[in-house]
Amino acid sequence: MKLLNSLILLSTSLSHPSLAHPPSHHLCATLPSPLISNARILTISSASKPATLIPPSPPITFSPISVPSICEVNITLTHPGLNDTATIQIWLPLQNWNGRFLAVGGSAWVAGHFGLTQGPAVAAGFAAASTDAGVPTNPFSPPSWALDEAGELNVGLLTNFASRSVYDLAIAGKAITESFYKRKPVAYWNGCSTGGRQGLVAAQQYPEVFDGILAGAPAIYWPEYVVAELWPQVVMKDAGVFPPVEELDAVVAAAVAFCDELDGVRDGIVTEPNVCAGSFDARAVIGQSYNISGKEGKIGAGAVDVVRKIWQGPNIDGQQLWYGAPIGAAMDILANTTVSNHGKRTGLPFFVPDTWVKWFVQKDPTYAVSDIDSKALKKLFLKSQSFDDLLNNANPDLSRLQRSGTKLLVWHGGADQIIYSQGTTQYRQRVEGAMGGVDHVDEYFRYFIAPGVNHCGVGTTPAPVNALESLIKWVEKGVPPSTLTGQTSSSAPVQLTRLICKYPLVPKYRQTGDTNSLASYECVKGSPP
Ligand SMILES: *[C@@H]1O[C@H](CO)[C@@H](O)[C@H](O)[C@H]1NC(C)=O
Ligand SMILES: *[C@@H]1O[C@H](CO)[C@@H](O)[C@H](O)[C@H]1NC(C)=O
Ligand SMILES: *[C@@H]1O[C@H](CO)[C@@H](O)[C@H](O)[C@H]1NC(C)=O
Ligand SMILES: *[C@@H]1O[C@H](CO)[C@@H](O)[C@H](O)[C@H]1NC(C)=O
Repeated sequence: MKLLNSLILLSTSLSHPSLAHPPSHHLCATLPSPLISNARILTISSASKPATLIPPSPPITFSPISVPSICEVNITLTHPGLNDTATIQIWLPLQNWNGRFLAVGGSAWVAGHFGLTQGPAVAAGFAAASTDAGVPTNPFSPPSWALDEAGELNVGLLTNFASRSVYDLAIAGKAITESFYKRKPVAYWNGCSTGGRQGLVAAQQYPEVFDGILAGAPAIYWPEYVVAELWPQVVMKDAGVFPPVEELDAVVAAAVAFCDELDGVRDGIVTEPNVCAGSFDARAVIGQSYNISGKEGKIGAGAVDVVRKIWQGPNIDGQQLWYGAPIGAAMDILANTTVSNHGKRTGLPFFVPDTWVKWFVQKDPTYAVSDIDSKALKKLFLKSQSFDDLLNNANPDLSRLQRSGTKLLVWHGGADQIIYSQGTTQYRQRVEGAMGGVDHVDEYFRYFIAPGVNHCGVGTTPAPVNALESLIKWVEKGVPPSTLTGQTSSSAPVQLTRLICKYPLVPKYRQTGDTNSLASYECVKGSPP
């Protein structure tokens, strides 16, 4: 759930100021333990490792990663009063270190992916580190740690996952990097999804320990949006219809086709989903044939109603609890269904809200998440908010970040099908409200919405490829980014290069020139929703 091509590109685009005396193998074996307040180091081990190749591991990496020779450092630590063991791993390139430390984040229930995300970073010259936060590196892991033996919430581990591990990782990683190279690194965070949420935790709670923070598709408002992710399932349950995802995606495709040219280019990208929602009437496509992913059929009235409600979002008893899916977002994850042995199609809740509701909100693993209706959803939504202190991670007071001089770059895919971008936009607006206006906030926090891009830019959508490079230029050269470059991965069937504009601007085709050239676009004021 995390695209790393920005790191791979970085290795060729940023120079490596080389060290006069590259660190020795001997130094690697004798690195001192770092000091971390409120944590106790249990073990530290380190050894140099020859260059190696890490095979692709979707959905985290999609191509092999060539890792140079490194010094590998493993640290385990515990927090006094809490019987936990968290692991931190730090990879230090033996050659061509670029002077920077990069902490890399996780996805879903995973706090960090170790080699899968450290690999591309060290290949690009960074000293790179991640942590498991003391919880398993398995995305389906809550059953093994959510509750203690007495059936009570494991608040300590949830705190590690929520925030504390971000601090431990940065302090340990920076100290080890400095011990090894005898030079203070410039320190960065990079993560998407859970990793983006961890980035905003860094911005809100530990801004002083980083110089730059890159957060993609941040999983902020976790207690809210995760429960609201069940809305598509509830819509189908309430209506008693469970259309195949291809039929739902056919309705989405019809809307995208209808609105495609509003931004001046016919390319399958709807730049302003809100504007589209105001002009497209889904009822007009009832009866149309579709042929998606090898499945053929006709769009039925039931599927159209389901998609319209998913776009509207959970409005229950007159209260809008959360946002609806932006037009363009695929239905296959949150509105997934499964066919039983008897041929009956039923709902299939996404594993993140399924485990969140069972293990944390209800503390009852037998709770039938697929049975809930809209009344139950509303109750769960309100109950889930009791976790706001730990996992909302959307404090708009960024005065510490501002004072620290640390730069925050946030981006979100405009067709994110798992975490809708409207939540991040709302956070940005709340920060503007709390911190005194757009221009003021732009001095330390810049936000970019990437049109048509799905969750963390996986697959065939034109995701930002120079976000980290842009952040580094901002931090180290004082040049803040006004645009980013969106680019599909090389394996995408259609290659797209697109301009990504700083919020609240949106890209518009100039009506002339190559549609794959950035110069053919300008950033303009968007239409009011
Ligand atoms: C670090 O931990 C990994 C995973 O357990 C292990 O494979 C590796 O050998 C360890 N490296 C060192 C230097 O201890
Ligand atoms: C701490 O955890 C270990 C297992 O990781 C367990 O064996 C031990 O009993 C625990 N100690 C306490 C005091 O809970
Ligand atoms: C549907 O699409 C498949 C390829 O995805 C194609 O083989 C098939 O002929 C199409 N069916 C129709 C009716 O166009
Ligand atoms: C949808 O559910 C099926 C099981 O019925 C599963 O194989 C598939 O991976 C799921 N799709 C997505 C996008 O999660």
